[in-house]
Amino acid sequence: MTEQLTFDGAQQMAEAMAARFVSEAQKAIAARGRFVVGLTGGSAAKTLYPTMLGSPCDWSRVHFFFGDERKVPPDHPECNFRAVRDAWLSKPQGVHIHAVHTELAAEAAAEEYASELAPFLPFDVVHLGMGPDGHVASLFPGHPLLDEKKLDVSWLGDSPKPPPVRITVTLPVLAQARQLWFLVQGAPKAEAVRAALKDPSSKLPAALAHRSAKQSVWFLDKPAAAQL
Ligand code: 6PG
Repeated sequence: MTEQLTFDGAQQMAEAMAARFVSEAQKAIAARGRFVVGLTGGSAAKTLYPTMLGSPCDWSRVHFFFGDERKVPPDHPECNFRAVRDAWLSKPQGVHIHAVHTELAAEAAAEEYASELAPFLPFDVVHLGMGPDGHVASLFPGHPLLDEKKLDVSWLGDSPKPPPVRITVTLPVLAQARQLWFLVQGAPKAEAVRAALKDPSSKLPAALAHRSAKQSVWFLDKPAAAQL
């Protein structure tokens, strides 16, 4: 099932996403005692997460993981965990943040993260920002990682988007999630949004994730939705 939600601006999108987050959290906590969410990196974290993290929620039942992480130290400006931590207007009381241990070698960090994540799968919701090339998490067009069918978490050393070394969830983990939320802003992404939503033959990672999803919710600003 696909929902396509278009917004005039970032704040309107942030408020709508936060409201949906609170609603889905309540349902997941009532049903399973916890709410397991994969967070995105990139601009979505900066523009949308402050409102989400400031929302009323039973945070002690929320488990945040990262759909991908760059292999940089936790205090590095390129670190996705740091971007979320910086988005906290005040740290949500009791929330569980499962950061990737990027001090380990990439393969070891991926293996350890997969072990930490396994008992929490399937995700209730995975947030996916999307690059203009249609990448999601650190799954890039034409990359061999798109063919990974066994591992839940893997790594790459040749990311076309710097920094080059990253740890990422794989397409099978996204396909098992209860919901994928695509959080996309900006005109440069309009063509990839069109391909993902309208071209059944598209091999873009966003298209592959969307077509395999149990439920897709697209949060779009008007420029990103311009070719729909
Ligand atoms: C990352 C992100 C990545 C991001 C897209 C979009 O770690 O880089 O997880 O998948 O969501 O590159 O990034 P922007 O929203 O900044 O364009």
